[in-house]
Amino acid sequence: KPYAIGIDLGGTKIIAAIVDEHGNILRQANAATQTEEAAQAVIGRIGDLVQTVLDESGINLSRIRGIGIATAGIIDTQRQMVIFASNLNWSDVPIGAILQERFGVAVQLINDANAAAVAEWAFGSARGTKDLIYVTVSTGVGAGIISGGRLITGVGDSAGEFGHISLDPEGPLCVCGNRGCLENYTSGLALASRAREQLLQGATSSLLVENGNDLSRITAKEVGEAAVRGDLLSMTLMKEAGYYLGVGLTNLIHLFNPQVIVMGGGVMKNGQLLLAEAKNVIRERSISRMANQASIQLTTIGAEAGVLGAAGMYYPSEREMVEV
Ligand code: BGC
Ligand code: NA
Ligand code: ZN
Repeated sequence: KPYAIGIDLGGTKIIAAIVDEHGNILRQANAATQTEEAAQAVIGRIGDLVQTVLDESGINLSRIRGIGIATAGIIDTQRQMVIFASNLNWSDVPIGAILQERFGVAVQLINDANAAAVAEWAFGSARGTKDLIYVTVSTGVGAGIISGGRLITGVGDSAGEFGHISLDPEGPLCVCGNRGCLENYTSGLALASRAREQLLQGATSSLLVENGNDLSRITAKEVGEAAVRGDLLSMTLMKEAGYYLGVGLTNLIHLFNPQVIVMGGGVMKNGQLLLAEAKNVIRERSISRMANQASIQLTTIGAEAGVLGAAGMYYPSEREMVEV
């Protein structure tokens, strides 16, 4: 069976792809997700995307090893369930069983950032690096940590919840139960809500007019694009987010002494200012020998990292990495 199907289930969109053992994507299809939507509907749409890529590629189900699903949140890889994913509003969703029933092939879950780390390690520009951390700044913030040539999984495959390390013990309550999490300051959701807050308080910015005076249309994407165009409010917000990201990355550098940190996720697409600020903070605060050893790079795989890592669970060279 030469192929596997990779799914990237994100807070705002789903990608499905048929992938071969070299990491080539033969066919892919996308759809949007909405947080208000019931899990059943989303899983139905995922199934339809799987069917679409099968039909369009002309590849028969009998040649598929399995379906890998990269998803945000905490998962149970014994029962292939999503235990808790705040960005999707999911708890205890048996997605694996449902898709297995529909297609009759194996289904395996992996955390989205962990999948992307595996993809970068196996197929990206930092291929083969033994100490690599992938950090995603998207709807939420996550990480996949490869240390000494192994993906750090923890006992329940949930290691790498970088977005939920506390940067302020007295900070706002996070959906995870902790306070002042990195994700509460640096994430797509945080950027959007800060922008709306500031605009409500009358801050000057081109954002409101550009979005038809409709606050609800302002997401991290609008803020990022406006920052690139020189909108001062958006620039300030990106820098603030970069400050917290830098504090978080300093902690990662001190904990894992990585050789490469690959940065990805939707917010990084317009993340020049954010990353520049994070690098300033790292320079100021990190143990300099360790900071100098860590090369911080933007992803070269981009939006496909999740599907590649998810499908990659079915290919032996990568499976070694995932299962150890
Ligand atoms: C979730 C992580 C995920 C990250 C990026 C966070 O909110 O807790 O599991 O990796 O978002 O999607
Ligand atoms: Na992770
Ligand atoms: Zn948290």
